[in-house]
Formats: sequence, C-alpha cells, structure tokens
Amino acid sequence: MQSEFILNKENKEELKQYLSEVIDIGLEFKLGEKFKEKNVSNEIKEQILRMPENSRSMEDIIQLVEKEIVPCCSNFSSTKFMGFPDSGNSIAAITGTVLSDLLQQNLINSSFCAPIATYIEIAVIKWLREIIGYQNISVNNVGDIGGIITYGGTVSNSIAMLLARENHRKYTMKTGVKNPDEYKVIIPKGIGHYSIKSSLMWIGCGENTIEVPTMNYKYDLDELEKTLLKNRGKVMCVVAYAGDSRSMTIDNLQEIYQLVKKIDDNIWLHADACHGFSLGFSEKLKSKISGIELFDSISTDPHKVLAVPYTVSALLVKNPKNLINIASTSDLIMQEDLAFGQITPFIGSKSWMSLKVWFTFQNMGREEIGKIIEKRCQMAQYLKQKLEQRKEYVILNDVDINSVMFMYVGDKENIELSIDEINDINKKIKDKMDTDGTYFLHQFSINDDNMKLGNKETILYPLRYMSGNDNITEKDIDDLLIYIDEIVRELEEKR
Ligand SMILES: Cc1ncc(COP(=O)(O)O)c(C=O)c1O
Repeated sequence: MQSEFILNKENKEELKQYLSEVIDIGLEFKLGEKFKEKNVSNEIKEQILRMPENSRSMEDIIQLVEKEIVPCCSNFSSTKFMGFPDSGNSIAAITGTVLSDLLQQNLINSSFCAPIATYIEIAVIKWLREIIGYQNISVNNVGDIGGIITYGGTVSNSIAMLLARENHRKYTMKTGVKNPDEYKVIIPKGIGHYSIKSSLMWIGCGENTIEVPTMNYKYDLDELEKTLLKNRGKVMCVVAYAGDSRSMTIDNLQEIYQLVKKIDDNIWLHADACHGFSLGFSEKLKSKISGIELFDSISTDPHKVLAVPYTVSALLVKNPKNLINIASTSDLIMQEDLAFGQITPFIGSKSWMSLKVWFTFQNMGREEIGKIIEKRCQMAQYLKQKLEQRKEYVILNDVDINSVMFMYVGDKENIELSIDEINDINKKIKDKMDTDGTYFLHQFSINDDNMKLGNKETILYPLRYMSGNDNITEKDIDDLLIYIDEIVRELEEKR
C-alpha cells in the first residue's frame, strides 16, 4: 500500500490544496503592513522544539503555522522594512523558486542529477559576467564557464580566498599552508564584511588580514601603496568593495587595480560586489562600477539586489581556467565535462538556485531590472534630500547606491550633544522601533570616516536605510520620518 505521507497519483489533489493554502498564507504575509506582528514567546519556542513522536494532520500543521509562526516572521516585503535587502518579490523569481524545489535537480553533476539545469546555471553565470563586463568564451567544460553559483556571499568570498591562495603559492591545495604569515590579505579598515577574515581562518591562512585606513569609506590609496610596499611578496590578495555592508560605498576600483598590479602583478584582486554589481544593469549607473572587470574575481549576490528570494550568490572569475586550480576529483561527483561539483569547494549537493534568477532575467530582461535598481537608488536619494533639509539629522555616507546612514543630532548647525549622547539617543530610537515592530532600519557600529561628528576613530551607531523593496514610495519615506520624529519627541521629553 502506498504511504499517505508521500506524493502519489491518488493524493496529488490533496497536495495541490495544501500548496494553494500555504501560497495564500505566504502572499497575505508578504503584502502585510507591519514589519513584525508578534515576538517569539517562550510558549511557542517550547512547542516548536518538542520532538513530534506521532503523525499530525497537514490541516493542523498549516493552522499552527498560520496562527503562531508566520506572525513572528520578519516581513522583508513590508514597505516599512527599510534597513536590509531584499524583499525577494519578483513574480518570476518566486515562481522559479517554487518550481526548482518541485523539480529536485542537484547541481553537483550534469549527467544524471542536473542535465538541463546545468545549462540554465551556465546561462545565468554567462549573463552575470556580461553585466559586470567580463568576456565569455565558448563552454566545453567547467574550466570555461568562469563562475559558480553558491549559497551566499560568504561562500563566494571564501572560494575567492581559496583562488587567491592557490594563485599566490601554487599547489597549496596539496601541500597545505606552510607559513600563514606569507598569505596576507589587505582589506579596508572598519568596513569589510566578516567573511573575508573568517574564511582566511577557515582555509588555514590564520588571522592575516591587514587593515588599511580609509577615507570616505574607500581605501586611502597612499596608505594602500605603503602597505603593499612594506609587505612585498607576502600579500596574496587585496579585497575592495563595490558596496560595503555598512556604508554601501563603491571604492575606486580602477585606481586600486592600477596601483596593486603596478607593485605586484601576481596579487589577486577580489571585488566584493555582492550589492554593487546590480548597478551594471543600468545604463545610467553602470559607470559607478567601472574598473570592476579588471579584478580577478567578483562576488555577486542576486539574493541581495535582484528581488530574488534567498538564497543565491555567484562568484565570477575573470580567467575561467583559474577555477580548475581549486577543483576536486572524485568519482562521486562524476568526472564529466560539466559537473559543477568539481569546482564548488565546500559544497556537495546543491539546489537549483539559479532557476529563480533565470526566470527573473527572462521575465524582466536587463532593461527592466536596470529600472528597478535605478528606482531603489532614487528612493535613497529622496531620503537623503529630505534629511539634508532637516536640521535634526546628519548623513554619514555619500549615498552611492541604495543606502543612507544617518543620525539624529538635535541641531546640526549647533550640536550640543556629546558623541555618547548622540549614540545613546540613536540606539534608543532603534530600540523603540524594534519594540513597536512597525518599521525596520538597520543599526551597527561604524567609524566616522568622513568626520561628520568627531574624528576618524569615533565610533558611531547610525540608523541605516536601505531600499530592497520596489514598492517603497516617497510617501513611505515621508511617513518614516514622521514616525522617527514622534519617537524623538517622546525621548526628548523624557530627557
Ligand atoms: C558586502 C557583503 N559581502 C558579503 C556578504 C555575505 O553575504 P551572505 O550573507 O549572502 O553570505 C554580505 C552580507 O551582508 C555583504 O554585505
């Protein structure tokens, strides 16, 4: 007898009913107003952690999820969620996401696990390469593709560090790291994503990053030059950001390339463009990332910027053959020409993440995606203008992409509050927002690199707007400011 728990011809309609119910729940959720309805209670924690010994009906589970679990989810799709990307709301991408799970392809090999999926994945990598300006060659094997799809920017950055390591000391894959001190990686001070430092520890290079001072959240090129000269022969990689995680600043990519390669042509240049590659879709904005095509490798995160649900990232490599240097060989992967598993370190079985990106490209085309990216940037510019007109707020960054870091300071013409007081009041604004659960802005620590309030060593806790939701309008931004004003009024009254 067939199991009632497993899909078969008899229970197909039943499954369709459940799918339709959860799709309704998910869409209602996505179109909800608030960022968060409910906090996670101890009671619900206990309930969900308990081991289910016996079976339970799907009706029951769906009801529990709808009533108790969905309201505790953070709604990235709410127009009041304004601090972190991405809403993941492309109609095509959502469709592709559902389909990829139903199709159950495994991108580890191309013969029996993913025969056509492999070609879709190759297409997505090829298009992303075109967007950032890399040349494509015709593909006969994995050494011609020039990229891999991974689960996120952290994995993409980690694999880039492996490429840098192998480029610096050939055969480290075989011999291991002998003297970690000679595998240094240069990063910009205070703004780098943790994945670079961590991955170097994961791959045996130890804590060997060198932080170079920045100006306006970009490398201070004189300091970069000094650091390179001082550490000649020991630097395996320089990492630059096209949109760092905090200020979303785009570095001087062309100048960095010229400086680094002039000093040592063998240093690997990696661009973390998890956010910034998106500008390549827009004719108006793509010049902001010019020079990126000179870099040896580039991390890109469609799940941060292309209205695509979590997760999907792509590491692109200028010279496709370099990926062969870090390849694995096992007859479990299948030693076939197009088995991606050979060139995806740390990853074995891999879901068909590229399908949702392929759907999005097919549905919108490059031009429409470009318009979405432009609108996100325009929304950030709108907030910037509004804040500039107000005496109470100071903006800390140049607003290169879609992010605005700002702080309430009382009166910017005549700041009477100390740095501690400014930080304190901005943390309280954030606390109140989180308690209300209506709006979300991000908050983190960052150096005052532009010396807007103190000096370069001053640590600030700004509020950070970031637009990863294409439904956000100017009115939503006006309403956000009214909401913050109200919090500030209450806090000032208490002071
Ligand atoms: C610039 C940058 N690089 C890498 C990452 C890591 O990406 P993921 O969280 O997808 O692993 C992030 C995440 O915020 C990021 O902002």
